[in-house]
Amino acid sequence: MVVFHTEAGLQAYVKGKRILGKTVGFSPTMGALHEGHMSLIEKSRATCDISVCSIFVNPTQFNESSDLDKYPRTVEKDLKMLEAAGCDAVILPSVKAVYPKGTRPTERFDLGFLTQPMEGAHRPGHFDGVVQVVKRLLEMVLPTHLFMGQKDFQQFSIIARLLQLINSEVKIVCCPIVREADGLAMSSRNVRLSAQDRKNALVLSSTLKQIKAQYPNGDLSALITAGMERMNAIEGVDVEYLEAAHQDTLRPVKRWADSSAIVLCTAARVGAVRLIDNVLIP
Ligand code: PAF
Repeated sequence: MVVFHTEAGLQAYVKGKRILGKTVGFSPTMGALHEGHMSLIEKSRATCDISVCSIFVNPTQFNESSDLDKYPRTVEKDLKMLEAAGCDAVILPSVKAVYPKGTRPTERFDLGFLTQPMEGAHRPGHFDGVVQVVKRLLEMVLPTHLFMGQKDFQQFSIIARLLQLINSEVKIVCCPIVREADGLAMSSRNVRLSAQDRKNALVLSSTLKQIKAQYPNGDLSALITAGMERMNAIEGVDVEYLEAAHQDTLRPVKRWADSSAIVLCTAARVGAVRLIDNVLIP
């Protein structure tokens, strides 16, 4: 695996592959890698000739500076995992390399309603930072394919829309959520959960699963209200949202019959850690 720190070095490598007609899969990450990230590399390797990963803790997408400070940084371990997963190249750019003209966004994109609900409503400015960095990383890496996780479903939808808006030829691939044996969605933040919070965190996936199991019966809105009550009943769990939305538009869905492709999403603070999860229905 080749490790790059500069755009020029990586681009020479990628262009050398693309000129030979090879496809290049790109998995952007912020490090603190786990099996969820490895599934992106696995999918990239199965789909493309060359697999590239980035590790960059993007300061512009953190709306709470304490969250940025606390974000786990485990680069040595990450590199070993990527190597073992068969990743071909990784870039570890500095903030200066990603944002040579400063971090203030210079472009705006009309992403419509997609940025408004759920994470958009609870983390102001978060998606501006995500869009800014993913667009920039795509310019740096020059991939043919982009692999992103379903765990951040709203992020996936927004980046898919961004690619349309900029007429990009990059093909985006959504990789399913990887879960621990007990159902907890894998996340870089899980390592910050105390033993009790780790147990409490199971209420996110179990509530989503319970509501999905009712499909297409029962009153969806009532199920969601009961689900929120169930989650909030656990001491130390504070639900930010539990919402059903259309998978394509992210517009709210009130009744099962309103959409044939629903995503049920939640975010909650468990102790001091903010977690998200979702399920696709049916
Ligand atoms: O999902 C993430 O880890 C980040 O939002 C991403 C896509 C790497 C951009 O910083």
